[in-house]
Amino acid sequence: MKTYIAPSILSADFGNLQQDVEMVNNSEADWFHIDVMDGVFVPNISFGMPVLKAIKKHAKKTLDVHLMIVNPDKFIKDFKDAGADILTVHYEACTHLHRTVQAIKAAGMKAGVSLNPHTPIAVLEDIIGDLDLVLIMSVNPGFGGQTFIENTYKKVEQLKNLIEYSNSNAIIEIDGGITDKNIKKLANIGATAFVAGSFVFKSENPTKTISTLKSLVSE
Ligand code: DX5
Ligand code: ZN
Repeated sequence: MKTYIAPSILSADFGNLQQDVEMVNNSEADWFHIDVMDGVFVPNISFGMPVLKAIKKHAKKTLDVHLMIVNPDKFIKDFKDAGADILTVHYEACTHLHRTVQAIKAAGMKAGVSLNPHTPIAVLEDIIGDLDLVLIMSVNPGFGGQTFIENTYKKVEQLKNLIEYSNSNAIIEIDGGITDKNIKKLANIGATAFVAGSFVFKSENPTKTISTLKSLVSE
C-alpha cells in the first residue's frame, strides 16, 4: 500500500519558510500539508493565499491543502490558482457538501472531506464514492501540538469498512498528534496518509524524523 507523509507547514518557521520548504523537498516526505484557518470555523487564524503561493514557488511535492474555513465554496478557484493539488473541506462547514466536492474536482483538484473528532463516520455514507480522500481529525482543529485522541482508531476502522463496502477509492488521512508511537497502529488498520506538524518541526533533525515516520509505515 502506498503511504504518504505530509509534514504540516503550520509548525514550520515562518521567518525562514523557504528553508523549511527545501527541507521537505529534500526529505522522504510525500506531501506538504497546508492548514488554512479563518478564525471563524476554528479559534485560530493561520495564513491564506499569499503564503500558499510563496510555498508553491519552491515546493516540489504535492500541496495537500486543509481548509478550516466557513464558506470554502467562495475560494475553490483561488486555491487552485494558488497551487493546491488536494483540497480538503470540513463536513461541518459545508451545507451542500456534494456540490462543493464536485466543484473542487471540476476545478482540477483532488477532493477531500475532513471530520472533526465528534463527527461520526456514518455522515459520509452518501458521499464516500465521490471522494479522493477523507481526513480524520485526531485533535480538535485549530492548533498544532495537541494530544492524539484515542477514539480515532475506532473511526479509522469504521471508515475503512465504509470505503470497502462502497467500493470507494478514497484514501484515509489522519491529522493531529501523530508521532512515532501511534503512526504504525494507524497504518495497520487502513490509514495511508499521515500529517505531522510539531513532531517533525520541533524535533532536532526534521529530515531524520520524516524518514523514521516513513519507515514505520512502509512495508
Ligand atoms: C490542526 C491542523 C494540523 C496541525 C497538526 O488543526 O489541522 O494539521 O498542524 O499538528 P500536530 O502534528 O502538531 O498535531
Ligand atoms: Zn491539517
